[in-house]
Amino acid sequence: MMFQSENGRSDIDLNKFYSDENSGRLHMPTTFFWGSGFIRNIPNLVNSRSVEVFIDGIVAEQMDLSWIDELNISNLHRTYGTPWVEDVEEYIEENPQNPECALVIGGGSTADFAKGVIARRAYGEISELGVGKRSGAQVAKSALPEIVGVPTTIGSGAESSRYFVLYEKATKAKVHGKSWALVASTVVVDPDLLRNLPPQVAISSAFDSFVHYWESLICKHESTFATRMFSKHGIAEVIINLKRVLQDSSDLEAWTNLGLNASLAGTAISNTRTGNIHEAAGALLERVNLSHGETLMVFAQSAYDQYMTETSTLLDNTVQQSGLVDFQSALNWWNELFEKYGMINKISRELNLILDLDEARQHIFKRVSNDKVWVNKESPIGYGDALIRDLIDEGFSKFLTDLVVS
Ligand SMILES: [Fe+2]
Repeated sequence: MMFQSENGRSDIDLNKFYSDENSGRLHMPTTFFWGSGFIRNIPNLVNSRSVEVFIDGIVAEQMDLSWIDELNISNLHRTYGTPWVEDVEEYIEENPQNPECALVIGGGSTADFAKGVIARRAYGEISELGVGKRSGAQVAKSALPEIVGVPTTIGSGAESSRYFVLYEKATKAKVHGKSWALVASTVVVDPDLLRNLPPQVAISSAFDSFVHYWESLICKHESTFATRMFSKHGIAEVIINLKRVLQDSSDLEAWTNLGLNASLAGTAISNTRTGNIHEAAGALLERVNLSHGETLMVFAQSAYDQYMTETSTLLDNTVQQSGLVDFQSALNWWNELFEKYGMINKISRELNLILDLDEARQHIFKRVSNDKVWVNKESPIGYGDALIRDLIDEGFSKFLTDLVVS
């Protein structure tokens, strides 16, 4: 994706450009709409163009879709659970062409499945697309659709992020990539789709957006004026509005704020990157039956303990608008919420079910240590092997009943 300067010269490839201390970038190719009942305006947004609909199958059963008949639908696909690479391949065999528009209604799994389908059709491949040495090397062989994203959770921000993650069925190994062309050009946050989220899902997904803001903020070089602005406002907003919806689930303004903050955290991450909490959690997710937010909780405290000295001033400031005195109090607040809603017990149960703990530790270690950009460049502290092992063992030790730390 080349940035066109006014004289027509293409100067900067956004896929290859990284922010640093001297030059920044905020790429935000999304228009946001929000409000109760706004989804009924989607036919006006899409107009008469052909549209492929990806929708979370469970959400589809619960929402009023009467307006959907007004669309010129080329295909409607329901997604269920984990986005598998094999399902993407099977789907595009029957549906090989990208339409003019894609309407994606769901959480991160639905968004990632749709991104996988769209990327596979346009680029011919998805594994490691645009990642590492392949940054900027992705060339679309056919036109990509305009994407309209309608999130139905308050966490992933996948609709406004250039990253996607799919999994292989046999190994549960992640297959990931990135492209700015996969970011929704329009995002609709309708609180009517969020207000019935069970508290555990709301807490787990809001914690995901909290960690997105947090990890984006502490990137040593890629964090910029603009992304810091998002994080400094967003971290307190997530806490304040989650408190509100847990007190009164009919508080539509608070649900809207949570939905918008999840999407804006996706924008922030898309301009920076996630860190060691996400790497460790992503690897753990391949070994346990937990939500993404629950696996983040396993490593959140131990990650903060490691770089507290370097980041506490920055992070303490972010939470004060929410009435909490410092970032540690915010982590304690999240921990109490997880405890209150049975999620700490669930995490403990799942971790104690891991049959080969050494294999799981090694698997997580490899994943974190292979993220060379984080380890060598963006981490707030020098991040050697001993600290990675400490992150894992300290994280596990809170949940495992008989862990022996070697
Ligand atoms: Fe996440």
